[in-house]
Amino acid sequence: MLVLGIESTCDETACAVVCDGQTILSNVVSSQIDLHSEYGGVVPELACRRHIDLIIPVLNQALTDAKLTLQEIDLIAVAHGPGLIGALFIGLNTAKALALAHQKPFIGVNHVEAHLYAALMSQTEPVQFPCLGAVLSGGHTALVLIKELGVYELIGQTADDAVGEAYDKVARMLGLPYPGGPIIEKMALQGDPNRFSFKAGQIKCKPFDFSFSGLKTAVLYKIKELLLTSQDKQDVAAAFQQAAQEDIVKKTLAAANHFQVKSILFGGGVTNNQALRQKFREASTDYSFIWPSHGLSLDNAAMIAGLGYHCFLKRGKGDGMDLEPLTRIPFALTSQNP
Ligand code: KG4
Ligand code: ZN
Repeated sequence: MLVLGIESTCDETACAVVCDGQTILSNVVSSQIDLHSEYGGVVPELACRRHIDLIIPVLNQALTDAKLTLQEIDLIAVAHGPGLIGALFIGLNTAKALALAHQKPFIGVNHVEAHLYAALMSQTEPVQFPCLGAVLSGGHTALVLIKELGVYELIGQTADDAVGEAYDKVARMLGLPYPGGPIIEKMALQGDPNRFSFKAGQIKCKPFDFSFSGLKTAVLYKIKELLLTSQDKQDVAAAFQQAAQEDIVKKTLAAANHFQVKSILFGGGVTNNQALRQKFREASTDYSFIWPSHGLSLDNAAMIAGLGYHCFLKRGKGDGMDLEPLTRIPFALTSQNP
C-alpha cells in the first residue's frame, strides 16, 4: 500500500511516500528555522503563512522523488494533531482536498504517536510488546507504555515545559538562536557540566512525571549573576544539559524497570542529541534502546505515512470529511478511535 503522508503541525512542512508502513520512497521536509530563528521560538502566524506557500511544492517534490503520481497513491495520512491550530488546518485541508479530488481514502494520525512509530521504521526485527515509549520533543515530553501498536497507557508527562522547549528557552537566555537543542549540545561539549549545580523538578507522588520550568528559572538566575563570557555560556549549557538528561535517563529507566519492559522506543527532536544517547548506553545494558534513524527524529511526514498505514489496516477505513484538527490529543484516545 502506497501512503502519502502530510505533516504541518508546527514549523516543518513535510510530505513523504511510504510503502506498507516501512519502506520510505520519499521524505521531503521544508524547515522554517530561518523564519523563526530571530524570535527564539515558533511564531504561529508566520508558520501558517509559510505552510500555505510550501505545502504544494513539497507535495510535488515528494511525489517526484518517489517517482509516483497522485493517482498511484492508495491512502493519504495526515497529522491532525496535536499542534498549532492554523498550521494543522493547512495539512488537514490539503489532505481532504486531495482525497476528494482523487477519490482516495484519508486518515488522521496523532503526531506524537507517530514520533514513537518513527523508531520502529528502521527495525528489521519485530519489537516485543509491551515496551516503553519516550517522547522527547519541542512540544511534548511523555513516557508511554505501549501495549501494542495503537494501544497506549500514559505513565508520565511534563507538568510544565517540554524538554525541547527548555533547551530552546535556555538558548534564548544565552542569546542563541532557535532551535536551541543542537546549539546547546554543541556548546556543552566545550563546557564544564559540574561548575553549576542545576536540578530538574520532581513531582510529588508521580515518579515518572517531569518538570523543567524550575530548572529553566535556575539557569536564568545563574545567567544574571555572570558576566556571560563564552566559557560561562559553555558551562551553563553543559550543566543545564546534564541536569535535564540525568533526569530523563533516571525516570525512563525507573519506568522501564517498574513496567518490566525489555525495549525502549525514543521519538522527537531531542533524541537527536548524541550525549543523551550516550548517557542511556552508559546507564544500562538491560534494555534495547530503539532510536529513530537519521531524518526521522525531527518532524517529518514519513512517520505520519508509516503510522497511517497501520491505523488504516486496524480500523479498516479512513476518516470522514468532518475530521477536525486537534490542538491536544490525549494518548488514550489515539488510534483506538472507532
Ligand atoms: O520533534 P520536533 O521536531 O518538534 C516537535 O514535535 O516539538 O522537536 C523539535 C525540538 C526543538 O525544541 C529542538 O530544540 C529540539 O527538538 N532538538 C534538540 C536537538 N535537536 C533538536 N534538543 C537537544 N539536542 C539536539 N541535538
Ligand atoms: Zn514533533
